[in-house]
Amino acid sequence: MSAADAKIPMIDLAAQHAPLEEELLEGLAAVLASGRFVLGEVVERFEAQLAALCEARFAVACNSGTDALWIALRALGVGPGDRVLCPAYSFFATASTLVRLGAVPVFCDILPGSLNLDPEDAIRRGEATPGLRAVVPVDLFGRACELGPLEAWCRARGVAIVDDAAQAIGTRDRHGGALGARGRAACLSFYPTKNLGALGDAGALLTDDEGMAATARRLRSHGEAEPGVFREIGLNSRMDALQAVALGLKLRHLEDWTRARRRLALHYDALFAERGARPSPLPFDGEGLPLRTPEPCPEPGRHTYHRYVIRVPAERRASLIGRLEAEGIACEIYYRLGLHQQPALAGYFPATSTGSEGAAARAPLVETERATRETLALPLFPEMRLEQVERVVGVVARALRD
Ligand SMILES: Cc1ncc(COP(=O)(O)O)c(C=O)c1O
Repeated sequence: MSAADAKIPMIDLAAQHAPLEEELLEGLAAVLASGRFVLGEVVERFEAQLAALCEARFAVACNSGTDALWIALRALGVGPGDRVLCPAYSFFATASTLVRLGAVPVFCDILPGSLNLDPEDAIRRGEATPGLRAVVPVDLFGRACELGPLEAWCRARGVAIVDDAAQAIGTRDRHGGALGARGRAACLSFYPTKNLGALGDAGALLTDDEGMAATARRLRSHGEAEPGVFREIGLNSRMDALQAVALGLKLRHLEDWTRARRRLALHYDALFAERGARPSPLPFDGEGLPLRTPEPCPEPGRHTYHRYVIRVPAERRASLIGRLEAEGIACEIYYRLGLHQQPALAGYFPATSTGSEGAAARAPLVETERATRETLALPLFPEMRLEQVERVVGVVARALRD
């Protein structure tokens, strides 16, 4: 098989781990020898490293991004009947966590360019929602959700912001602010395919608030307040030392990997532009290539490009996927359904449990639904070569011109 025919995956973790293997095995062996597998010094060292990288005062390591979200919201007292705004275009865990706390997600629409929560739409729905306790913006695909007027609106009403930064380690907003600084907490996922991936499930919560960090530490450990005394109900979500070893080692390479991701993403943008594609959110108007590249980021250096997501006309997407698969090029749809369309969340949109929400809270989620029909993620991983990007662009452009 020639290089031109070789398969291109979405991510290549074997290639990422190969140069680290020796050091990684040494670290794992040291944990085996220590016999200390849950929390402990190795985890504390990783927490300190992570907090420094993310410019947060505290990092609390736990077993998944989902747990980090649950812990952050629970620490803020979000509970039965509380309303929480979140984007309808995100991974399931953003909303399922709310439901597990007994809260009611109020789904908001997204901006067609950034694919992140639309702050004006969130304010409109928030105004129509009694009992609002929190907002969970998501920094989708590694791009910061710009809160704009929503931040002051939340402050004025005592509505907490918890950032779902599961896909966005190292991301900064347009003002250069690190995630975690603007809300009460930011939640990270270290699922293996994330920009910083563990060797299994893991996550962390970042916060500048000492009280929140202390509560989060209790909540990840069953709610144990002092040895043998439990004053609240928590989780068993203590990070394993084996995961902390791998994450601590990989963290040292994260900035280089992120730089590589940016370079590849900008290469995609430039090559697609040469072939007549234009950036999101321009509509499909019959001009040029029927493809929209990601909306240019005002500060590309602040985007961590967890995924490179294009838009194509809904009726062309299935045939494009077929062409990519036939050429051995992976691609992925994130997300096939809006959260309000997920069978397990049926009943939360419109949020009818009290029927007290105004009509604005139940307005259609037009941009979310359009995104579920038009978006497609193409391969992007730090070890990807520029020639591989060129091959993907060539196949996509040919498929869309035919
Ligand atoms: C936006 C978003 N939120 C939450 C999560 C949950 O993280 P985890 O899989 O670590 O539980 C993910 C992970 O896929 C995610 O992408």
